Amino acid sequence: DGVTVAVLGATGAVGRAMLETLEKRNFPIRELRALASPRSAGQKLTYKGQVVTVEAVSEEAFEGVDIALFSAGASTSLEWAPKAVARGAVVVDNSSAYRMTDGVPLVVPEVNPEAVKAHQGIIANPNCSTIQLMVALSPLKQIGLEHVSVSTYQAVSGMGQKAVDALKTELERQDGQSTLFPVVANDTHYPMAFNVLPQCDVFVEDGYTKEEMKLVNESRKILELPQLKVSPTAVRVPVLYGHAESVSVRLKESVSVEQVRELMKDAPGLVVVDDPAKGLYPHPQMATGTGDTYVGRIRKDLWDDRTIWMFVVADNLLKGAAWNAVQIAELLTAY
Ligand code: A2P
Repeated sequence: DGVTVAVLGATGAVGRAMLETLEKRNFPIRELRALASPRSAGQKLTYKGQVVTVEAVSEEAFEGVDIALFSAGASTSLEWAPKAVARGAVVVDNSSAYRMTDGVPLVVPEVNPEAVKAHQGIIANPNCSTIQLMVALSPLKQIGLEHVSVSTYQAVSGMGQKAVDALKTELERQDGQSTLFPVVANDTHYPMAFNVLPQCDVFVEDGYTKEEMKLVNESRKILELPQLKVSPTAVRVPVLYGHAESVSVRLKESVSVEQVRELMKDAPGLVVVDDPAKGLYPHPQMATGTGDTYVGRIRKDLWDDRTIWMFVVADNLLKGAAWNAVQIAELLTAY
């Protein structure tokens, strides 16, 4: 009884969080395979107190696998997802490789769980910044979303374990040297310690970054609002874990702050922390280690009666990646 699960990228920041989440949510596992590059073969990880030995990814490694959770980068997904599917596995892919592909559901379980049913072997996990935005916006969809503006404050762990290590080193050395931030591909690098960098991932079009365009395109697909206006700015901050977002939403009707809180109060996966008089609002350290999305600072725009502002926070490795992927796996076992 139970499900045979493979985790590809098990040694990475998200892969490790996937093992933790499978354990924490008590996923019904029959057999667990931890896969990574040949560099990591033989490395030991733990799951429920048991040692799991990392294997190099191979076609045979997917034989008999029911669900394969992928988090090893887009090029690795493009290479291995079709092979895993050919061996009979359903792939839940955390990379950007298939997110915008027709026939590949892009799923946030609190928002569009039914979408998983249409899969043809691959289901995509959205970008970390998109997921928490969706959880917070979904309760407002019934009023009518007209225009969403979002500025992110993103933790370095979104760039992988090496970025976590690099920021820690920079914070200690304080020599202003960096070769990793904002992205390896840049000719120019800036310190991440004691700094804020308005670039997440590479620039792609019209002055926007790839991360910013993911917020636009993925939001439209998940909410099934292909014309939704999304205006994004993605910023990296010297935080290890937890993304924050300052969001404004122009709605089709004027609503009060109390109505917004009421709509959000019982929304799944969303926790309203919003008592300014007591200094209560979300921040990344509040969210880390949890699978919830937190929202606060809910207020009306000073000048536009139909615009609501809010601050949205989640653990980017959990709700933004591993937790959402395991929730999708749970939907697969339930349907
Ligand atoms: P490895 O540790 O063997 O390099 P992160 O996002 O934290 O950098 O983690 C990336 C994850 O993806 C790691 O588990 C890494 O394994 C894995 N990975 C990267 N490239 C490949 C590849 N070509 N084949 C299999 N796994 C890969």
